[in-house]
Amino acid sequence: MPRVLVAFAHPALEKSRVHRALLAAASRHPAVTVNDLYQVYPDADIDVGREQALLREHDIVLLQFPMYWYSTPPILKLWQDLVLEHGWAYGRTGHALAGKSLACAVTAGGPREAYEPGGFNRTSIRQFLLPLESTTRLCRMTWLPPWIVHGTHRLDPEQITRAAAEYAELLSALAEGRIDPVRVAEADELRPIHWTGGS
Ligand SMILES: Cc1cc2nc3c(=O)[nH]c(=O)nc-3n(C[C@H](O)[C@H](O)[C@H](O)COP(=O)(O)O)c2cc1C
Repeated sequence: MPRVLVAFAHPALEKSRVHRALLAAASRHPAVTVNDLYQVYPDADIDVGREQALLREHDIVLLQFPMYWYSTPPILKLWQDLVLEHGWAYGRTGHALAGKSLACAVTAGGPREAYEPGGFNRTSIRQFLLPLESTTRLCRMTWLPPWIVHGTHRLDPEQITRAAAEYAELLSALAEGRIDPVRVAEADELRPIHWTGGS
Protein backbone atom coordinates (compact mmCIF):
# COMPACT_ATOMS: atom_id res chain seq x y z
CA MET A 1 0.00 0.00 0.00
CA PRO A 2 1.44 3.44 -0.91
CA ARG A 3 2.65 5.42 2.09
CA VAL A 4 1.61 9.07 2.25
CA LEU A 5 3.83 11.80 3.71
CA VAL A 6 2.03 15.04 4.56
CA ALA A 7 4.53 17.90 4.64
CA PHE A 8 2.53 20.51 6.53
CA ALA A 9 3.31 24.23 6.59
CA HIS A 10 1.21 26.80 8.43
CA PRO A 11 3.08 29.75 9.96
CA ALA A 12 0.28 30.59 12.43
CA LEU A 13 -1.44 27.35 13.37
CA GLU A 14 -2.69 28.91 16.62
CA LYS A 15 -4.95 31.18 14.51
CA SER A 16 -6.00 28.48 12.04
CA ARG A 17 -9.56 27.22 11.74
CA VAL A 18 -9.34 25.06 8.63
CA HIS A 19 -5.86 23.52 8.72
CA ARG A 20 -6.27 22.70 12.38
CA ALA A 21 -9.18 20.42 11.38
CA LEU A 22 -7.39 19.06 8.30
CA LEU A 23 -4.26 18.35 10.31
CA ALA A 24 -6.28 16.44 12.91
CA ALA A 25 -7.77 14.29 10.12
CA ALA A 26 -4.32 13.58 8.65
CA SER A 27 -2.83 12.81 12.07
CA ARG A 28 -5.54 10.23 12.76
CA HIS A 29 -5.06 8.47 9.42
CA PRO A 30 -3.21 5.14 9.74
CA ALA A 31 -1.53 5.34 6.30
CA VAL A 32 -0.22 8.88 6.77
CA THR A 33 2.92 10.36 8.33
CA VAL A 34 2.54 14.03 9.25
CA ASN A 35 5.63 16.22 9.14
CA ASP A 36 4.74 19.61 10.65
CA LEU A 37 7.56 21.76 9.28
CA TYR A 38 7.01 24.89 11.42
CA GLN A 39 6.74 22.76 14.55
CA VAL A 40 9.82 20.65 13.78
CA TYR A 41 11.89 23.64 12.58
CA PRO A 42 10.81 26.73 14.59
CA ASP A 43 14.15 28.35 13.64
CA ALA A 44 13.86 27.22 9.99
CA ASP A 45 16.99 25.09 10.50
CA ILE A 46 15.90 22.26 8.22
CA ASP A 47 17.58 18.87 8.75
CA VAL A 48 18.16 17.81 5.14
CA GLY A 49 19.09 14.22 6.06
CA ARG A 50 15.88 13.76 8.08
CA GLU A 51 13.73 15.19 5.29
CA GLN A 52 15.38 13.08 2.60
CA ALA A 53 14.94 9.95 4.72
CA LEU A 54 11.24 10.74 5.16
CA LEU A 55 10.85 11.24 1.42
CA ARG A 56 12.62 7.95 0.69
CA GLU A 57 10.26 6.10 3.07
CA HIS A 58 7.07 7.33 1.38
CA ASP A 59 5.50 6.93 -2.06
CA ILE A 60 3.21 9.97 -2.14
CA VAL A 61 4.15 13.43 -0.92
CA LEU A 62 1.27 15.73 -0.04
CA LEU A 63 2.17 19.35 0.62
CA GLN A 64 -0.52 20.80 2.92
CA PHE A 65 -0.58 24.60 3.28
CA PRO A 66 -2.68 27.78 3.10
CA MET A 67 -2.27 29.95 -0.01
CA TYR A 68 -0.05 32.85 1.00
CA TRP A 69 0.31 35.56 -1.65
CA TYR A 70 -0.60 33.11 -4.42
CA SER A 71 2.14 30.75 -3.32
CA THR A 72 3.29 28.61 -0.41
CA PRO A 73 4.28 29.79 3.07
CA PRO A 74 8.03 30.48 3.07
CA ILE A 75 9.26 27.32 4.83
CA LEU A 76 8.04 25.19 1.92
CA LYS A 77 10.22 27.14 -0.49
CA LEU A 78 13.19 26.76 1.86
CA TRP A 79 12.40 23.03 2.17
CA GLN A 80 12.56 22.68 -1.63
CA ASP A 81 15.76 24.74 -1.87
CA LEU A 82 17.58 22.64 0.73
CA VAL A 83 16.09 19.15 0.50
CA LEU A 84 15.73 18.65 -3.25
CA GLU A 85 19.48 18.56 -3.84
CA HIS A 86 21.15 18.25 -7.21
CA GLY A 87 22.42 14.71 -7.63
CA TRP A 88 19.77 13.47 -5.19
CA ALA A 89 16.39 14.73 -6.41
CA TYR A 90 17.34 15.83 -9.91
CA GLY A 91 20.28 15.92 -12.29
CA ARG A 92 22.07 13.07 -14.04
CA THR A 93 22.44 10.99 -10.87
CA GLY A 94 19.45 12.36 -8.96
CA HIS A 95 16.80 9.67 -8.97
CA ALA A 96 15.78 9.42 -5.30
CA LEU A 97 12.21 10.61 -5.92
CA ALA A 98 11.64 9.03 -9.34
CA GLY A 99 8.31 7.24 -9.58
CA LYS A 100 6.80 8.86 -6.49
CA SER A 101 3.81 11.22 -6.68
CA LEU A 102 3.28 14.73 -5.36
CA ALA A 103 0.06 16.62 -4.70
CA CYS A 104 -0.96 19.70 -2.72
CA ALA A 105 -3.76 20.11 -0.20
CA VAL A 106 -4.43 23.82 -0.22
CA THR A 107 -6.77 26.27 1.46
CA ALA A 108 -7.60 29.64 -0.03
CA GLY A 109 -9.38 32.67 1.36
CA GLY A 110 -10.69 33.36 -2.14
CA PRO A 111 -13.85 31.58 -3.34
CA ARG A 112 -13.73 29.13 -6.27
CA GLU A 113 -15.12 31.77 -8.71
CA ALA A 114 -12.16 34.04 -7.92
CA TYR A 115 -9.82 31.43 -9.39
CA GLU A 116 -11.84 30.76 -12.54
CA PRO A 117 -11.20 32.35 -15.95
CA GLY A 118 -12.68 35.85 -15.80
CA GLY A 119 -12.67 35.73 -12.00
CA PHE A 120 -10.91 38.14 -9.66
CA ASN A 121 -7.53 36.35 -9.76
CA ARG A 122 -7.83 35.36 -13.46
CA THR A 123 -5.77 32.25 -12.83
CA SER A 124 -6.52 28.87 -11.29
CA ILE A 125 -4.76 27.71 -8.14
CA ARG A 126 -3.25 24.88 -10.17
CA GLN A 127 -1.68 27.49 -12.46
CA PHE A 128 -0.40 29.50 -9.49
CA LEU A 129 1.30 26.31 -8.33
CA LEU A 130 3.10 25.80 -11.67
CA PRO A 131 6.62 26.10 -10.12
CA LEU A 132 5.77 23.13 -7.87
CA GLU A 133 4.38 21.18 -10.83
CA SER A 134 7.57 21.81 -12.82
CA THR A 135 9.73 20.87 -9.83
CA THR A 136 7.77 17.64 -9.51
CA ARG A 137 8.42 16.77 -13.14
CA LEU A 138 12.11 17.72 -12.86
CA CYS A 139 12.35 15.19 -10.02
CA ARG A 140 10.71 12.56 -12.27
CA MET A 141 7.68 12.42 -9.99
CA THR A 142 4.02 12.30 -10.99
CA TRP A 143 2.12 15.54 -10.38
CA LEU A 144 -1.48 15.33 -9.20
CA PRO A 145 -3.76 18.40 -9.31
CA PRO A 146 -4.29 20.19 -5.98
CA TRP A 147 -7.13 19.39 -3.59
CA ILE A 148 -8.55 22.76 -2.51
CA VAL A 149 -10.73 24.21 0.24
CA HIS A 150 -11.96 27.55 -1.10
CA GLY A 151 -13.46 30.56 0.63
CA THR A 152 -12.08 29.68 4.05
CA HIS A 153 -13.11 32.95 5.72
CA ARG A 154 -16.80 32.19 5.19
CA LEU A 155 -16.83 28.54 6.23
CA ASP A 156 -18.88 27.72 9.32
CA PRO A 157 -17.77 24.97 11.75
CA GLU A 158 -19.99 22.39 10.05
CA GLN A 159 -18.48 23.14 6.63
CA ILE A 160 -14.99 22.86 8.11
CA THR A 161 -15.89 19.47 9.60
CA ARG A 162 -17.13 18.37 6.16
CA ALA A 163 -13.91 19.57 4.51
CA ALA A 164 -11.87 17.56 7.03
CA ALA A 165 -13.99 14.47 6.31
CA GLU A 166 -13.40 14.93 2.57
CA TYR A 167 -9.68 15.31 3.26
CA ALA A 168 -9.68 12.00 5.15
CA GLU A 169 -11.36 10.40 2.10
CA LEU A 170 -8.71 11.89 -0.18
CA LEU A 171 -5.96 10.48 2.02
CA SER A 172 -7.57 7.03 1.93
CA ALA A 173 -7.97 7.22 -1.85
CA LEU A 174 -4.30 8.16 -2.26
CA ALA A 175 -3.14 5.46 0.13
CA GLU A 176 -5.27 2.84 -1.63
CA GLY A 177 -4.15 3.87 -5.12
CA ARG A 178 -7.70 4.87 -6.12
CA ILE A 179 -6.74 8.06 -7.97
CA ASP A 180 -5.66 7.48 -11.55
CA PRO A 181 -2.97 10.07 -12.43
CA VAL A 182 -3.81 9.84 -16.14
CA ARG A 183 -7.52 10.46 -15.58
CA VAL A 184 -6.89 13.53 -13.39
CA ALA A 185 -3.96 14.89 -15.39
CA GLU A 186 -5.85 17.85 -16.88
CA ALA A 187 -8.15 18.63 -13.92
CA ASP A 188 -7.86 22.01 -12.19
CA GLU A 189 -8.39 20.36 -8.83
CA LEU A 190 -8.94 16.96 -7.23
CA ARG A 191 -12.56 16.42 -6.27
CA PRO A 192 -14.49 13.45 -4.84
CA ILE A 193 -15.58 12.36 -8.34
CA HIS A 194 -11.92 11.51 -8.99
CA TRP A 195 -11.86 8.86 -6.28
CA THR A 196 -15.48 7.71 -6.14
CA GLY A 197 -15.52 6.82 -9.82
CA GLY A 198 -18.20 9.34 -10.88
CA SER A 199 -17.88 11.47 -14.00
C1 LIG B 1 -0.11 36.43 4.56
C2 LIG B 1 -1.35 35.85 3.95
C3 LIG B 1 -1.46 35.73 2.58
C4 LIG B 1 -2.59 35.17 2.01
N1 LIG B 1 -2.65 35.03 0.66
C5 LIG B 1 -3.73 34.46 0.08
C6 LIG B 1 -3.80 34.30 -1.32
O1 LIG B 1 -2.88 34.62 -2.07
N2 LIG B 1 -4.91 33.74 -1.84
C7 LIG B 1 -5.99 33.36 -1.07
O2 LIG B 1 -6.97 32.87 -1.61
N3 LIG B 1 -5.94 33.49 0.28
C8 LIG B 1 -4.84 34.04 0.86
N4 LIG B 1 -4.77 34.16 2.23
C9 LIG B 1 -5.86 33.60 3.05
C10 LIG B 1 -5.42 32.24 3.61
O3 LIG B 1 -5.11 31.33 2.59
C11 LIG B 1 -6.54 31.69 4.49
O4 LIG B 1 -6.63 32.55 5.58
C12 LIG B 1 -6.24 30.30 4.97
O5 LIG B 1 -6.32 29.42 3.91
C13 LIG B 1 -7.23 29.91 6.05
O6 LIG B 1 -6.85 28.67 6.61
P1 LIG B 1 -6.61 28.54 8.18
O7 LIG B 1 -7.93 28.74 8.85
O8 LIG B 1 -6.07 27.18 8.39
O9 LIG B 1 -5.60 29.60 8.56
C14 LIG B 1 -3.65 34.73 2.84
C15 LIG B 1 -3.55 34.87 4.23
C16 LIG B 1 -2.42 35.43 4.77
C17 LIG B 1 -2.34 35.56 6.28
